Amino acid sequence: MDRLSIKHLLGIRDLTVRDIELIFQTADQFKEIINRPIKKVPSLRDITIANLFFENSTRTKLSFELAQKRLSADVINFSASGSSVKKGETLIDTVNNILSMKVDMVVMRHPNPGAAHFLSQHVSARIINAGDGTHEHPTQALLDAFSIREKLGDISGKKVVIVGDILHSRVALSNIYCLQKMGAEVMVCGPSTLIPKYIAKLEVKVEHDLMKALNWCDVANMLRIQLERQEMKYFPSLREYSMQFGLNKEILDSLDKRIVVMHPGPINRGVEITSEVADSDQSIILNQVENGVAVRMAVTYLLASQIER
Ligand code: CP
Repeated sequence: MDRLSIKHLLGIRDLTVRDIELIFQTADQFKEIINRPIKKVPSLRDITIANLFFENSTRTKLSFELAQKRLSADVINFSASGSSVKKGETLIDTVNNILSMKVDMVVMRHPNPGAAHFLSQHVSARIINAGDGTHEHPTQALLDAFSIREKLGDISGKKVVIVGDILHSRVALSNIYCLQKMGAEVMVCGPSTLIPKYIAKLEVKVEHDLMKALNWCDVANMLRIQLERQEMKYFPSLREYSMQFGLNKEILDSLDKRIVVMHPGPINRGVEITSEVADSDQSIILNQVENGVAVRMAVTYLLASQIER
């Protein structure tokens, strides 16, 4: 059986092209299985997984849990709110207490960049990063790239623009790494205050004019403005942001080609994207969510198969 080159999924940066191809091929098989009447396989019957969410989530949390259950793993869920973290318990103490219940794998979302990496150096379980602050969100990038491959047949040679709050976005950084590894050209577009200075080192194009960006791309990935991570004002108002960088039907219809529209969610309808666009036949937003289950099954299965049992 083919194996991943990694023990933990901490970020896309650590993956080889072969790892990503293996994840996609495995996800193709799981996608076929979860569309059958009997959606469950016994592959991880002897594996226990803890989902630790120190930050809010809807899609990632639910789709990891569903992926694990489809693989027949035993699953325990932990949310920081309502836990002893509120009484001052450290991350390592929290995780070691959970691991003493014989847990093989941890899926963790945490507000601090590097939290998953830190954990992987201090505990014996396999770690999957489900988003660490503004750093990486590897499974989101994998499901995004998998959805582009599904829709356009290939990723290589495609032009993808990521629009919005690049500065605070782990989705943007993981997408840039993943799409570039798979041979796509990547552009970021947004107000200059929301484009990080380090972007110059990543060899992506930078554009501040939405129309130019949309005329260039095959795929537009529209990001949410992350007000919860912003300590200062980066633009005058959401209304002005929307007027300059929001995607509406009029703009979409004015392009001389049909681009694919993506969004990682949660959507702020009427800010970065209108309902008409989000719900249009050019949008693959719900396909992304559907593919999230198959991709997370693939990552979980491939990492769990390396565990000695
Ligand atoms: N895309 C994403 O990570 O969504 P959630 O925050 O709801 O998990």
